Amino acid sequence: MRRVLVLGSTGSIGKQTLDVACRLPHRLQIVGLATYRDYKALSNQATSLGVRIVGLIEPPPNASIAGLTLYAGVEGLCAMAQRADVDIVVVALGGAIALQPTLAALEAGKTVALATKEVLVAAGEVVMRTARQYDAPLLPIDSEHSGAFQAMLAGKREQVARLILTASGGPFRTRSLDTFNAITVEEALKHPNWDMGAKITVDSATMMNKGLEVIEAQHLFGLELEQVEVLIHPQSIVHALVEFVDGSVIGQLSLPDMRLPIQYALLYPDRVDIALPRLRLEQVGALSFETPDPARYPCLELAYAAARVGGTMTTVLNAANEVAVRAFLKHQIRFTDIPRLVEQVMAAHAPQPATLENALAADRWAREYLQKSLPTHAL
Ligand SMILES: NC(=O)c1ccc[n+]([C@@H]2O[C@H](COP(=O)([O-])OP(=O)(O)OC[C@H]3O[C@@H](n4cnc5c(N)ncnc54)[C@H](OP(=O)(O)O)[C@@H]3O)[C@@H](O)[C@H]2O)c1
Repeated sequence: MRRVLVLGSTGSIGKQTLDVACRLPHRLQIVGLATYRDYKALSNQATSLGVRIVGLIEPPPNASIAGLTLYAGVEGLCAMAQRADVDIVVVALGGAIALQPTLAALEAGKTVALATKEVLVAAGEVVMRTARQYDAPLLPIDSEHSGAFQAMLAGKREQVARLILTASGGPFRTRSLDTFNAITVEEALKHPNWDMGAKITVDSATMMNKGLEVIEAQHLFGLELEQVEVLIHPQSIVHALVEFVDGSVIGQLSLPDMRLPIQYALLYPDRVDIALPRLRLEQVGALSFETPDPARYPCLELAYAAARVGGTMTTVLNAANEVAVRAFLKHQIRFTDIPRLVEQVMAAHAPQPATLENALAADRWAREYLQKSLPTHAL
């Protein structure tokens, strides 16, 4: 039996993790749940699953429920992640705020199943160093990275020549570029293939999501930036392709359903049937691939540019993007302002080497810097 703590349990990945655990009652036990501030949803989950340990980054004043142990703040989530009765920590909070709880889990030697890619973009070198130092397994939940991880098992790591991450292209793949200024929040939240939280759905529309994933892959698999490429694949069936030095290409395919990579990370290296819908290629028909157009997806270019600089530049890329996307979701800025503002913050940043202190300081600086220049009212 593996005892699982879910950080971000009220979100899309969090709920799907609970679904997977409920299908595997003899293999997985949910022992703790934590989220940002939705106390009501969290306590409902705890009651229905019989969980006694809960955490909130921003608890409402006087929050307490008889019979529940409540951990508060980022420090509280760090303490939860180090509890002796936790084996696996699922990290699925919405952003770089998950960095310290992730590090705390690794320092306690826990297995981390990581959905929150922002953690590796904010401080990938620090996280990977910590995982190695404490011999703590770090397994990806992101579907492309789970696919890459599985495909890489076909050879040796040093024999990997190239990794290709696929991207759906989002809802604006064929939209006329001269109408991008008029893109609404509602249009950006309509993803063609995946049902996800609001922030990652907007990131998929700008393709910053794929840029963050390129940086995530670089750290997870120890690859050079030039070895990680992106192809648009509108059907979202092939999640990643690994080319080995002999030219052989191994891919991972499945229907777009996050429960599969979640299950893989939680049971690794085991595989079981939890009755998820199966891929039937004859029903899918054609699979197509194309190169992303930089004019349509400037955020992807910004991510490569930040990764080329390295150090705290990727921390700043991520923090500025988190602030800009939340402002877009609140109708304070336009869709096309997202890359413009991220680029502005990157241009103002003097990058520092990748230490935890530098990353935390750069993250704070970028958020404050951008926040000051945002309009306070909706457009
Ligand atoms: N959804 C997917 O299919 C998918 C696939 C691959 C990777 N991921 C990654 O997994 C992570 C979670 O994605 P999601 O789609 O599950 O997100 P989501 O549905 O938006 O849920 C986010 C979770 O984070 C909490 N949250 C809310 N505001 C936050 C803030 N300002 N800072 C930090 N956390 C906040 C939410 O708590 P409250 O309910 O208390 O507000 C919720 O528990 C993201 O990093 C995403 O990139 C997601």
